[in-house]
Amino acid sequence: MAEGKGTMASLSGKVAIITGASSGIGRAIAERFSQDGAIVVVNYAKNREKAQHVVTGIQAKGGKAVAMQADMSQVAEARRLVLDTFKQFGRLDILVNNAGKFMPKLLVEMTEVEFDQIMALQAKGPYFAMQEAAKVLKDGGRIVNISSELTHTNFAGATAHLGSKAALEQFTKGLAQELASRGITVNTVAPGITDTGVLTEDYRQFGIQISPFKRLGLPKDIADVVAFVVSDDARWLTGQIIHAGGGMVM
Ligand SMILES: NC(=O)c1ccc[n+]([C@@H]2O[C@H](COP(=O)([O-])OP(=O)(O)OC[C@H]3O[C@@H](n4cnc5c(N)ncnc54)[C@H](OP(=O)(O)O)[C@@H]3O)[C@@H](O)[C@H]2O)c1
Repeated sequence: MAEGKGTMASLSGKVAIITGASSGIGRAIAERFSQDGAIVVVNYAKNREKAQHVVTGIQAKGGKAVAMQADMSQVAEARRLVLDTFKQFGRLDILVNNAGKFMPKLLVEMTEVEFDQIMALQAKGPYFAMQEAAKVLKDGGRIVNISSELTHTNFAGATAHLGSKAALEQFTKGLAQELASRGITVNTVAPGITDTGVLTEDYRQFGIQISPFKRLGLPKDIADVVAFVVSDDARWLTGQIIHAGGGMVM
């Protein structure tokens, strides 16, 4: 088992699902959890090779990980991901609903099909993943929903995308109340603009401009925050939105 960084309580022996972990922020979360000793389920939708690459990298450092395909916009697949994890490892400690896709669209251009896809991936799928997870999560477990700091601004041109994240944030608050009796915490981490290697130059410059640090966030910046939220040190934190945007101002 890989050794933890020693800065927080270890995740040794814990089983964590990270949805959308074949790249970007999800990948960084999976790698950080593994460093902290967790067994990680690297979920992906289409990119099997990328997911396997993440798994191989974790294993090369002595960690334990498996890749599991599931389209998180499909309720049956979201449920299957949780059930298969539980069947394979006999326990579930952490669910991170990270899978997402930035789908900016002006109101006048949005189609009903696109709107439904956005909501299915970033609100409905995570909701039912949480429902399934709630049945098997260990007492003291953790749910983290990845939203977006832009949800807290008047950013235009992505209202459906940010609306789906707002729904996820609202689920977080109520479910924190529903699951607290078992010591399970439910929190939102809302990243600011984060450099996953695919941002357009305009968007990169925008992100740098609104940052007091004058740089973009890195996936590791977000992963380290999520690692704290799932740690024992964060046991008194639930129903919260953690603004992981590097203090961005809009
Ligand atoms: N990057 C940012 O600036 C930023 C800012 C705020 C919030 N966020 C949020 O952070 C999360 C991760 O974003 P990212 O930028 O790291 O994204 P990313 O690099 O594009 O990675 C997206 C991940 O989600 C997976 N995915 C996409 N559709 C899926 C589906 N239907 N079912 C299961 N997995 C699916 C992808 O898997 P495949 O490779 O198999 O397609 C991939 O692993 C998202 O929720 C996003 O909204 C990102």
